[in-house]
Amino acid sequence: VTETVWVELPEQRRYPIHVGSGVRARLGAEIARLSDVSRVAVIADQHVAELHLDRLLAALPGQPTVLTFPPGEPSKSLATFERLLGELADARIERSDLVVTFGGGVAGDLGGFVAACWLRGVRFMQVPTTIEAAVDASVGGKTAVNHAAGKNLIGAFHQPSAVLIDTDFLGTLAARDYTAGLAESIKHAAIRDPDFLTWHEQHAAAIVARDPQVLTPLIARNCTIKADVVARDEREAHLRAILNYGHTLGHAFELLLDYELRHGECVALGMLAENALAQRCGRLDAAVAQRLHASIAQLGLPTRLPRALPPADVLAACRLDKKNKAGRITFVILDGLGVPVRFASAEDADIVAALASVQPA
Ligand SMILES: NC(=O)c1ccc[n+]([C@@H]2O[C@H](COP(=O)([O-])OP(=O)(O)OC[C@H]3O[C@@H](n4cnc5c(N)ncnc54)[C@H](O)[C@@H]3O)[C@@H](O)[C@H]2O)c1
Ligand SMILES: [Zn+2]
Repeated sequence: VTETVWVELPEQRRYPIHVGSGVRARLGAEIARLSDVSRVAVIADQHVAELHLDRLLAALPGQPTVLTFPPGEPSKSLATFERLLGELADARIERSDLVVTFGGGVAGDLGGFVAACWLRGVRFMQVPTTIEAAVDASVGGKTAVNHAAGKNLIGAFHQPSAVLIDTDFLGTLAARDYTAGLAESIKHAAIRDPDFLTWHEQHAAAIVARDPQVLTPLIARNCTIKADVVARDEREAHLRAILNYGHTLGHAFELLLDYELRHGECVALGMLAENALAQRCGRLDAAVAQRLHASIAQLGLPTRLPRALPPADVLAACRLDKKNKAGRITFVILDGLGVPVRFASAEDADIVAALASVQPA
């Protein structure tokens, strides 16, 4: 079974996300829908290319140019970006040609930004191969590379023409990468779809077992939730900010642990600590916080930091966050399931107390 989710955007930029086993076969038809594509350039994570490039190429028309980059966050750099632009130039990729990104969130963010900039923007399609990319990064058109001053500081909004999430590529994911991406799924359920949280509770064992029967509906529902938020607020003027639930403290943990944990693992811990904060501030019921804690634990995500972090360092890291206004640390907390609110009036003492709930026992 396959599913298709449409991202509804103005100015004829509406595009489909196809999810399921074998959907890579639709690449040819999606490319045929675009006018004038004469060449395709694939920008692929090297590791993913070693595992799956032959199956991707079999689904692409003609003889694409294949550009690769070393796996990992360090590739989201201006240096890699510049090298890839040079390779597009050598391959004579023109304004009407197409870029296809192949890999996890790094491939989509980096390859998407290359597509956004080459010749002032060429069209691109994404073929995400991680859970993180399938349920979150590939929806919404944010592309970026990192700067020494912080993550994702150099980027552009550039929407793809289509996204093909072929679950056949997910089987080779390392256990931690698989599990980490599920944190964003809990996030989407918590901020937008309480029934979907119940669904996670009911299907936890099958999700952990990577049952193909649950993977497609899980990914498609995440894409539906995020696509709806993005369609209402493409450039993050207001609503889209709710997607940052768990991310204020999550980013601080990511930074202070020096990327020892996966992004999703940090988001899980961030949601737990921000729930503790919301409880302390009288916003969230203990019962809802307990349910989210149980779901996170059930999926195999961490519920405590691997080592203690000094509270002063965490506060300092939060103060660097892009979302802050006028120096106040800004959170998205839950007032209840499905009711995220912007919250910028936490006292440092409350943040420190909330942090204790995720410090090692
Ligand atoms: N644009 C957005 O809206 C958005 C949203 C969330 C995250 N992101 C970005 O996404 C990135 C994280 O994404 P990620 O977790 O996918 O990281 P990633 O792309 O680095 O992939 C994680 C690891 O999995 C490997 N891998 C990928 N697919 C595989 C497969 N099918 N089989 C085996 N190994 C595979 C990769 O080689 C890599 O080592 C971050 O840079 C983050 O900023 C962007
Ligand atoms: Zn995230």
